[in-house]
Amino acid sequence: SYRIGVLTSGGDCPGLNAAIRAVVCAAGLLGWEVYGFIDGFEGLISPVRYQILHEEDTQGIISLGGTILGTTNRGRFTTKTGIGEVKRLPGHLIDEVKETLEGLGIGALICIGGDGSLTAAQQLYESGVPIVGVPKTIDNDLSATDYTFGFYSAVEYVCRSLDRLRTTAASHRRVMVVEVMGRYTGWIALYGGLSGGANLILIPEIPFEYSKIAYQVRKRIAEGNFQTMIVVAEGAHPKDGQYYVVEEGKSATAEIRLGGISRHLEKVIHLMTGQEVRAVILGHLQRGGEPTAFDRNLGMMFGAAAVGLVREKRFGYMVSYREGKIGAVLIQEAIRELKKVDVNCPEIKTARAMGISFGEE
Ligand code: F6P
Repeated sequence: SYRIGVLTSGGDCPGLNAAIRAVVCAAGLLGWEVYGFIDGFEGLISPVRYQILHEEDTQGIISLGGTILGTTNRGRFTTKTGIGEVKRLPGHLIDEVKETLEGLGIGALICIGGDGSLTAAQQLYESGVPIVGVPKTIDNDLSATDYTFGFYSAVEYVCRSLDRLRTTAASHRRVMVVEVMGRYTGWIALYGGLSGGANLILIPEIPFEYSKIAYQVRKRIAEGNFQTMIVVAEGAHPKDGQYYVVEEGKSATAEIRLGGISRHLEKVIHLMTGQEVRAVILGHLQRGGEPTAFDRNLGMMFGAAAVGLVREKRFGYMVSYREGKIGAVLIQEAIRELKKVDVNCPEIKTARAMGISFGEE
């Protein structure tokens, strides 16, 4: 019978297992066999590792975070080392992938991954590997799809965390600086910050000014609000890259790399306002655990649609979700550029209308 492979690659995120189950169920109904490769692309090369997946192997997994197949965002298939920098996969790796697939009689590969993994998938496709992509990232920064699964689960966690942190901030009359994921984009910070009642939201798309942050904190105190909740995306940065140097002789950027932007702001805001400030880094807590219902459904819609693309032999395409519809786009198009927060989007407009500051006014 026809055989397909499936793998999960890049950082894990809630909803991956729902996508895997949908692939297995939809392929199973067509009478196909599904080989699940272990630890992303790594499972395709020596020592080759896979698990044959039947419907019963995937029962009960849609509610689980992470991926039953394992994944990695490091290793030999890394194509992106920084924004804009793309590495070519060495020819011998591509040949090995082809040999593995041919040896196992696999006719197509479904690759579930983010920007970096889809870049590797595109290179494999260009070298003749029949690949279909499924977008995945909690960051929601893939263009060509309105949402990726994992994003809303992360947002939900950020929202609940802010609820908790507000009570302690209020009790101590403190400033809380809550750092969330998002190296290049502010989606999690914006959606999580708005829903969680943040007073300031700092995102990479809107560079901040230290003086404006301090002004907002002071203004709140003058109005009798002694606690301030600040959400900061890990990739947020000051205007013109002008970092405030906390200690004479020390480079601020080196400090940020070590401790994160939130630790840096903790010190600077204290120096500028005299207030007690606490930094909280939510880190991988926002990537783990149960997917929300939306993310489970999106994962399943993507998984089932990917099997449909394989059936139609539309290799080199990635499934997408746009304006309520599941469709397909060329992987090549999808990886061209990251999807940044539009500064005129309804969430930003709403935040501004409510007096939430982005650290620039
Ligand atoms: O891309 C997802 C993501 O969680 C980013 O938000 C974050 O910058 C990065 O991965 C963290 O990677 P790692 O799991 O390797 O620490």
